Amino acid sequence: MVAIAILAAGKGTRMKSDLPKVLHSLGNRSLVERVLDTGATLNPERQIAIVGYRSELVREALGHRSVEFVEQTEQLGTGHAVQQLLPYLTDFQGDLLVLNGDVPLLRPETLQNLLKTHQDHQNAATILTAQLPNPKGYGRVFCDEAGYLTAIIEDRDCTPEQRQNCRVNAGIYCFRWPDLAAVLPKLTAENDQNEYYLTDAVNFLKPVMVMDVPDYQEIWGINDRRQLTNAYQILQTRIKTNWMLQGVTIVDPASVTIDDTVELQPNAVIEPQTHLRGNTKISAGCRIGPGSLIENSTIGENTTVLYSVVTDSTVASGTCVGPYAHLKAQASVGSGCRIGNFVEVKNSQIGDRTNVSHLSYIGDATLGQQVNVGAGTITVNYDGKYKHRTVIGDRTRIGSNCSLVAPLTIGSDVTTAAGSTIVEDLPNDCLAIARVKQVVKPGWRPKWLRQGATSAE
Ligand code: UD1
Ligand code: CA
Repeated sequence: MVAIAILAAGKGTRMKSDLPKVLHSLGNRSLVERVLDTGATLNPERQIAIVGYRSELVREALGHRSVEFVEQTEQLGTGHAVQQLLPYLTDFQGDLLVLNGDVPLLRPETLQNLLKTHQDHQNAATILTAQLPNPKGYGRVFCDEAGYLTAIIEDRDCTPEQRQNCRVNAGIYCFRWPDLAAVLPKLTAENDQNEYYLTDAVNFLKPVMVMDVPDYQEIWGINDRRQLTNAYQILQTRIKTNWMLQGVTIVDPASVTIDDTVELQPNAVIEPQTHLRGNTKISAGCRIGPGSLIENSTIGENTTVLYSVVTDSTVASGTCVGPYAHLKAQASVGSGCRIGNFVEVKNSQIGDRTNVSHLSYIGDATLGQQVNVGAGTITVNYDGKYKHRTVIGDRTRIGSNCSLVAPLTIGSDVTTAAGSTIVEDLPNDCLAIARVKQVVKPGWRPKWLRQGATSAE
């Protein structure tokens, strides 16, 4: 049985923000959400967030998750934070994993290894450590050759000689809870900071093992915005390296961002200045970018999206989107289509091999297959209060610069003349011309040019 406690009570003064530090976003999730998600991979019995500074905001942000909250009203140290769990875990006999809400780069494998080492050796505690090139500020960890702890000493309490030790305490621990519960009440705040140190509790326990994490970046904590940005870069490097090794071409990784929730298939090509966000899937053979933003969308095989924005939409295979197209609000575009320059598609379904190539607005519409929409056509979907739908049948050809005034149903195999304003439904197989007939007046001149007139009149 495993429970996870996440220390999330601190303010994070160096963020210079009213928002609690753990709620700052790192990519598409907050710091504490990332820590929770990593912890959740262990299938813990319970997840408990220890909250304090503006706890109402943290509770609200995590309200939809299966997390319990424990209040630490005054932040008197990491040991004090964990003491707050005592009334909540009275009957708990399992292991308690303690995570920091501001250490978001930990890999799930690292936590799994920590827990395994802890359980295999039946340790009272196992602590995650790393050997840092610059260990300044971290608690130093001393151990014997077998990896058993001899002492943890906070940086400020170290002798100059002890400070040379570059093995640091990551602040991530696995405890046999009944052992920890027995020593927590004994902590005192007799130190430089007058805080109750969780590290003191570790020093009371036996046996305690240390486990080095090979990639020390995993334990980096976030204290200021510069570190937040650094962490984002580290995450991005991890994500893009992974996809490149899986067969995705990323032409210029430095100018591309990809959320860790995005899925890509091999042989996709991601061109420069492209951003893939949220729940997005990019299929094999796609070419996305340069200059595209795809968010919560699925792009089928061999589709290209050039200088375009696609949000909350799907595009099937072999379709060309852009340049400068905008698909949004559950737009769905079929295969073999062309959605071209300056075309907006909103909440519409577009059938296979249909083209909307230039300067059009397609909103709240359903277009069949092999439809052709001429340049400058718009669906007039909004009457100022309500939105209405337009339906267009297969193989219909909408002439350039038509206004389709919804609600409107146009049959299949219809042609509408260029410049028509279509306000009534059209049956299958017809031509509709809805524009003023052209009038030609031979020899006509403006009044001021007619014979006898003077330019003064
Ligand atoms: C702690 C460790 C140190 C370790 C470092 C790693 C102790 C005494 N020291 O030091 O050995 O190298 O973490 O980052 O534990 N928090 C609360 N309530 C509190 C105090 C802190 O929730 O009363 C939270 C903070 O918001 C933060 C985390 O606990 O997320 C760590 O606290 P912090 O004061 O930053 O610990 P360090 O001094 O960095
Ligand atoms: Ca501190």
